[in-house]
Amino acid sequence: LQNELKNVVISEVGPRDGLQVVPCFIDTEDKIEWIDSLSLTGIRRIEATSFVRPDAVPQMKDASIVMSRIKRQSGVKYGALVPNLFGAERALDSGVDELNVVISASESHNMKNIRRTVAQSLDEFLKIGERCRAHGEVWLKATIATAFGCPYEGRIDSSRINEIALQLVAAGAREITLADTTGMGNPLLVKKIIDNLLGSSFCADLGVHFHNNRGNGIYNTMVAISSGVKHVETSAGGLGGCPFVPEASGNVSTEDLVKLLDNNGIETGIDLAAVRNCTAMIDKVIDKQSEKSKCKGGITK
Ligand code: COA
Ligand code: ZN
Repeated sequence: LQNELKNVVISEVGPRDGLQVVPCFIDTEDKIEWIDSLSLTGIRRIEATSFVRPDAVPQMKDASIVMSRIKRQSGVKYGALVPNLFGAERALDSGVDELNVVISASESHNMKNIRRTVAQSLDEFLKIGERCRAHGEVWLKATIATAFGCPYEGRIDSSRINEIALQLVAAGAREITLADTTGMGNPLLVKKIIDNLLGSSFCADLGVHFHNNRGNGIYNTMVAISSGVKHVETSAGGLGGCPFVPEASGNVSTEDLVKLLDNNGIETGIDLAAVRNCTAMIDKVIDKQSEKSKCKGGITK
């Protein structure tokens, strides 16, 4: 396990998954300042925003401005989540290093989230793959949402996860993230799905993204790492959740994972105190903004 732990790469998704559930609009300047601070913590990958319909997720309406104004640190890769080709084009125009295309394993969640059937999303991914190849340097990844269960359909067959993952890789994805969008995973299920995928002809990087509904997030993360997963998405302070599922819960926190690696003698290069300061910073911004705009609810941790 020590070797697997050593290879873990943490991706910070707070600026996207965290902020997308905050009901009041966070000023663009505050987002930029937060991302700039996260960039100085030693974290190497940051999902800075998402290019989605501004009326679907108003918090992300400033995606292009955020991308163009953050101070990019060398050694840090900046990414964005996109749901479709139009979003991918906007993201590529803004100069992302990494493109994260989301598609659900479950038809119902894909329809609620992306308003497409899974087959339509897979078709669109082919076009995104082509577009990305023209941008040589951009790292294309795909997130399979609801991989460990769907709030509408329950368990997803692991063979369906393999089928989708292999199609995405064939279309150009260099990394697949299995996302537990609503925290329905448990350690045994996580192991089963990952073993099944890594035991197939799958040949790309593999990552995970866990939410904390049943408090299983960090255990699921450990099992995923010990099963051979390299990339783990976490969020500073555990802020996060999908706006298109009932009772969404927060992400595994970046602090918890860094602490866990530190405790096992793994040098992550991430300054835990600096991450905690970033969390305190965004908590303060959210509190101030919520007070000002009198909006409440919806924030999940
Ligand atoms: N960014 C901005 N605008 C977009 C867009 C994108 N990625 N994709 C589509 N649009 C615009 C189109 O330009 C079109 O505009 P018009 O009416 O002025 O011509 C309009 O939206 C409708 O386009 P369509 O392709 O029919 O999209 P849709 O209405 O079916 O919406 C999504 C599909 C995926 C764009 C939308 O459901 C969405 O943004 N969902 C958010 C998903 C999300 O962030 N989930 C949480 C993270 S997993
Ligand atoms: Zn999430």
